Amino acid sequence: MTRFRNRTAIVTGAGQGIGAATAALLAEQGARVAVVDLRTDRAEAVAREIRDAGGVAAAFGCDVTDEAAVTETTGRVVEEFGGLDILVNNAGITRDNLLFKMGRDDWDSVLATNLTSVYLCCRAAQKYMVEARYGRIVSLSSRSALGARGQANYAAAKAGIQGLTATLAIELGPFGINVNAVAPGYIATAMTAATALRVGSTVEDHQERAAQATPLRRVGQPREVASVIAFLASDEASYVSGQTLYVNGGAR
Ligand SMILES: NC(=O)c1ccc[n+]([C@@H]2O[C@H](COP(=O)([O-])OP(=O)(O)OC[C@H]3O[C@@H](n4cnc5c(N)ncnc54)[C@H](O)[C@@H]3O)[C@@H](O)[C@H]2O)c1
Repeated sequence: MTRFRNRTAIVTGAGQGIGAATAALLAEQGARVAVVDLRTDRAEAVAREIRDAGGVAAAFGCDVTDEAAVTETTGRVVEEFGGLDILVNNAGITRDNLLFKMGRDDWDSVLATNLTSVYLCCRAAQKYMVEARYGRIVSLSSRSALGARGQANYAAAKAGIQGLTATLAIELGPFGINVNAVAPGYIATAMTAATALRVGSTVEDHQERAAQATPLRRVGQPREVASVIAFLASDEASYVSGQTLYVNGGAR
């Protein structure tokens, strides 16, 4: 597939889950993919799988909350692959708790990992994209941006991504850079499995309850988010910018 021929993509948090599925799909469709994750071992495993399947990928260990590391990693990707066309801001964490029990650490770490990292990665990437007069940025918001019990920190960060996306679309649009977000509902990954266990449920029961609250009566799979990210990162979405697209099985 040649959808992303000669395109280079960075996918953050690509060591597992939605990020790994996105890295694999972009590579299948011809992109050279930088698999970025805090966990270098996981990034390496994902990059190896992509290469074994005939794709082009390299692993980069990087903490996306660390400004110097983000700048350095972005520069290394450009050096290794000769440019940067697509940035997928996917790295994220949850530290759920009701407000009265939510410590400052949980607030700060969720805001840093889910929101400040997007600012850092966009700022590092735009330098190359503006120069090339081309870029595609897609960030992971969440349905939780609309409000979710026990997720004041996460909801604030994911709503912040929507405002950041709308603003960067205005600022970067004149340079041929499209900036969009996707907001998934319940997707079956390690993140939602950890939530299930934390609330004392089995993963199966937790998913079943989420499925019943979803019009499509099932939870989503990482690949179903990856395909929407790939669309927004492609030239088929060339006149779409500043949008947040919900990928949530029809839930309102
Ligand atoms: N799973 C869902 O239901 C769901 C729903 C809505 C939004 N999202 C968002 O989608 C994204 C991916 O979610 P997922 O379910 O695949 O999560 P996940 O926990 O399975 O994977 C997240 C990845 O991010 C990496 N990461 C965490 N902190 C990092 C940091 N500081 N620097 C670099 N990498 C870091 C982790 O090592 C991990 O590999 C997240 O932004 C999440 O908030 C997920």
